[in-house]
Amino acid sequence: MSFSSALLDWYDANKRELPWRGEHDPYRIWLSEIMLQQTQTETVKGYYRRFLERFPNVEALADAPEETVLKLWEGLGYYSRARNLHAAAKVVAHEMNSIFPKDAAGLRKLPGIGPYAANAIASIAYNVPVPALDGNQARVLSRVLAWEPEIKTPFDLLTPALGLISKERPGDYNQALMDLGAMICLPKSPKCDVCPVSTHCKAYAGDAALDYPRKPAPIAKKEQDWTILLINVGDAMLVRRRPKGLLGGLYEFCAIEGHFSDASSLANALEERGFQNVRIIERLPDAKHVFTHLVWKMQGWRVACNAAPEGYAPVNSEALEALPFPSALRIYRNSVK
Ligand code: ADE
Repeated sequence: MSFSSALLDWYDANKRELPWRGEHDPYRIWLSEIMLQQTQTETVKGYYRRFLERFPNVEALADAPEETVLKLWEGLGYYSRARNLHAAAKVVAHEMNSIFPKDAAGLRKLPGIGPYAANAIASIAYNVPVPALDGNQARVLSRVLAWEPEIKTPFDLLTPALGLISKERPGDYNQALMDLGAMICLPKSPKCDVCPVSTHCKAYAGDAALDYPRKPAPIAKKEQDWTILLINVGDAMLVRRRPKGLLGGLYEFCAIEGHFSDASSLANALEERGFQNVRIIERLPDAKHVFTHLVWKMQGWRVACNAAPEGYAPVNSEALEALPFPSALRIYRNSVK
């Protein structure tokens, strides 16, 4: 049995009962698809019913004041959807004799209808065999095909998707893939043991459903070595304010780029920088902090000196507590005595 036949047999027996199921009126299909684009199915159900009670056809919607439309949309979010819906209703009612375009290209010219919605409406309302590719369909198909390339948009899968879609029942096929994605081919816990198309699924054959869709390779993070220095002058701790840029405006301890293998080379480096009468007290634990594009690998030391070069402020522990510090330095700040 073909992929689409196996999927449609499963759909006929297991499909979710939804208010727009079995519907072929393009106005109703359009409304449901726009509502479903950014909102959970359960939430959409009530809004869909109320909207249709108030605006049973495209003329009723076109003739309504925008405020009334927005009021019925209240709580659904992404209000540009409602404004576009209203604008598209006016075009269809006033310029198209209330007849929706019958193919995806025509539908796409209406405000708020993108490639996904155009294909969903064309297939469900008019039986046009075009795949309604959204993130869920892309996940399912990436597994069926064991699709290796990184998916930048679901329409990257258009060519293979066109090869799989049912030519007889494309609207049901698209909705069957949506239901499969919502009920079986789940993102984190796919139920492959009860999947009606597992025998067609290349990822399943390799026991690798969770490996698809392929994730983009993580970008290599630059690593920086830092020596973090808790330097006392008497009872006060030396701190400075970071300049603009990464963590700009926060406070920090003295820090020297690079690591030191022993106390005397560290003492020399500090004296070269203008710290006077440097005594290295003890080594502190190492720490690592991961930023988005950067990793700090830190070694810590406790130090005392008699005078510091310009740019450092001596603060007591109470004042230190009140200063904003990056969490990257938390373990060193917590070890201030
Ligand atoms: N999500 C988007 N469109 C849908 C539809 N027609 N049925 C179920 N879920 C959907």
